[in-house]
Amino acid sequence: MRITIFGATGLLGKDLIKEWPALHSEDIVTGLGSGDCDIRDAQQVATAVKRTEPDWIVLSAAYTDVDGCETNRDLAFAVNRDGAVNVAKAAKAQGARLLFVSTDYVFDGKSSVPYETDHPRAPQGVYGRSKAEAEERLLEISPEFCIARTSWLFGMGGKCFPDTILKLAATRKEIDVVSDQRGSPTYSVDLARAIIPLCHANATGIIHASNRGECSWFEFAQEIVSRAGLSTAVRPTTSDKFVRPAPRPAYSVLSPKSLERYKITMPDWQHALGRYMWERSNQ
Ligand SMILES: NC(=O)c1ccc[n+]([C@@H]2O[C@H](COP(=O)([O-])OP(=O)(O)OC[C@H]3O[C@@H](n4cnc5c(N)ncnc54)[C@H](OP(=O)(O)O)[C@@H]3O)[C@@H](O)[C@H]2O)c1
Repeated sequence: MRITIFGATGLLGKDLIKEWPALHSEDIVTGLGSGDCDIRDAQQVATAVKRTEPDWIVLSAAYTDVDGCETNRDLAFAVNRDGAVNVAKAAKAQGARLLFVSTDYVFDGKSSVPYETDHPRAPQGVYGRSKAEAEERLLEISPEFCIARTSWLFGMGGKCFPDTILKLAATRKEIDVVSDQRGSPTYSVDLARAIIPLCHANATGIIHASNRGECSWFEFAQEIVSRAGLSTAVRPTTSDKFVRPAPRPAYSVLSPKSLERYKITMPDWQHALGRYMWERSNQ
């Protein structure tokens, strides 16, 4: 198979590039960052797709700064929605399949049980709205496209929560972390190892792909500090004491049922965190 990855220079994209040949050495993978192709420019996208002749396109490229999206609304929609539409149209013209990486932030967080794929979208902030609108537009362009929603990504390829906590814990005696937002931390390596077989299985429609289990950011931070053997005290706080520009869903756990239909089981988040910390300490 020939694969073109948009967003190959990002946290997930770097692991897709690393994991793909390990799982399918016969595939020909081209990775593109924003310097190779700006997805806001339909012409650049069409040219890149024609040149790389993919059977599958993985669209991981996005403007992912959730707070930044609130102040840079135009940029958020230009990249996350209109850029995705450019890629989808080029995929359709090429006869290529498309897997679009989306987010748990398309939900409002009012549920108390894991979200199924058909739960109505009700994003709270600009980032979530831009991704939710992209999902809708892509499925209008082709219902055969695949949307893989994930959550709370961490990994070696970029800025992430465990890295921030480890850096803070190295210099502070106490850290306050919110305990009123629950989700599923997801290791970019595990997500890449789910996306690759999804493409090989010709997956279509909406799929939820997160590491198993759930926690609050506070519990996640506790686990990080404890595994690192640090003595920093992690204290629970609430979102109203830690106000940020973008609202976040209070609960955004994604049900694994849609992924299980493809016989894919992602490891639990604690196991994933252990492997991340090993990778980080051996870099
Ligand atoms: N991070 C999370 O917690 C999280 C959670 C749920 C879902 N997601 C979704 O997962 C996907 C991957 O996220 P990530 O954390 O890997 O993102 P990331 O590390 O922020 O990387 C973003 C990627 O998008 C590319 N990009 C940005 N603007 C672009 C443009 N105008 N044209 C072309 N490429 C552009 C960047 O290219 P350059 O670096 O070359 O500029 C980079 O490769 C995204 O779709 C995101 O919405 C992320």
